Amino acid sequence: MANTTSSGDGDTLVLDEPQSGDASPNAAVKPANESRTSAPAAKQSTIYIDGQFLPESEAKVSVFDHGLLYGDGVFEGIRFYNGRVFRLEEHHDRLWDSARSICLEIPMSKEEMTEALLETIRQNGLRDGYIRQIVTRGVGNLGLNPTQCKRPSVIIIAATIALYPEEVYRSGLTIITCATRRAGAAVLNPAVKSLNYLNNVMARIEANLAGADEALMLNDAGNVAECTADNVFIIKKGQIFTPPISAGALRGITRAVVFEIAAELGIKITETDITRHDVFVADECLLTGTAAEVIPVIKADGRVIGTGKPGPISTRMIARFREIVREGGTLIYS
Ligand SMILES: Cc1ncc(COP(=O)(O)O)c(C=O)c1O
Repeated sequence: MANTTSSGDGDTLVLDEPQSGDASPNAAVKPANESRTSAPAAKQSTIYIDGQFLPESEAKVSVFDHGLLYGDGVFEGIRFYNGRVFRLEEHHDRLWDSARSICLEIPMSKEEMTEALLETIRQNGLRDGYIRQIVTRGVGNLGLNPTQCKRPSVIIIAATIALYPEEVYRSGLTIITCATRRAGAAVLNPAVKSLNYLNNVMARIEANLAGADEALMLNDAGNVAECTADNVFIIKKGQIFTPPISAGALRGITRAVVFEIAAELGIKITETDITRHDVFVADECLLTGTAAEVIPVIKADGRVIGTGKPGPISTRMIARFREIVREGGTLIYS
């Protein structure tokens, strides 16, 4: 098992001493410039809350915010590489869709949100890192009725982020299937990236207790939905397969990049129901997510996948993904 912990995104990250702009494999998801373990603290990170840029120690939300009381709100985790935000428009489209689905009106335009996000990164002097963008239902009373909440709150946190240790991208992850099922669309639609992540957190706890790096979540039909914060792909006889969104997978932005790369490489990719058996007998297996990026899996429920080493398609996929993330994106410092 990789020596890792989880970010709020569920992505597995390595804890380390924070340093502004540090995107080394051993850095953590953490507020920019923060020092948790050494005193005196270094310069605090700057957080955006509702139109203000505040030092971390002053960036606070009310205990009556329904984001805290009920997990009522939506969020995105977004990466930026080399001074450019990766797939910002796609993240904002998903954020707005999530909000619309839960009748939450984001109190600013996409253009204003983009500017607030870019300015948050600039204020923290970062070029590589991770943004957590949150829209909460806002302050209400102790009842859950959202009509009590007059104004949603927007929070943007810029952080430095580490991947799994680089070595894990070469050696692969181990996963287990967890007993916690992915909530179905009729319960809590997985397409909504809401602040209610307890379903995923419970799955993550199972992975931790089992000593695995990630947990494979099945849907009510017993088919693979996704991992706790990653989409799942398997490769068999030169073709790629992934569960459809209807299986309970988030429409991942990294997932979409894998489709693009597959098309570019001339590899057939199919959305289809996948069972645990399909994972066990796959030649290769990959997970994708904004923070984890594209990462191979080499063991599931104790079964070695393929040769037990990341296979050729996974390796090409990872290499191409790493090129693509540096190719474009929204310029932070113009
Ligand atoms: C439940 C879940 N599935 C999949 C993903 C991967 O999606 P993306 O590639 O857009 O980060 C995430 C992370 O956002 C997630 O939280």
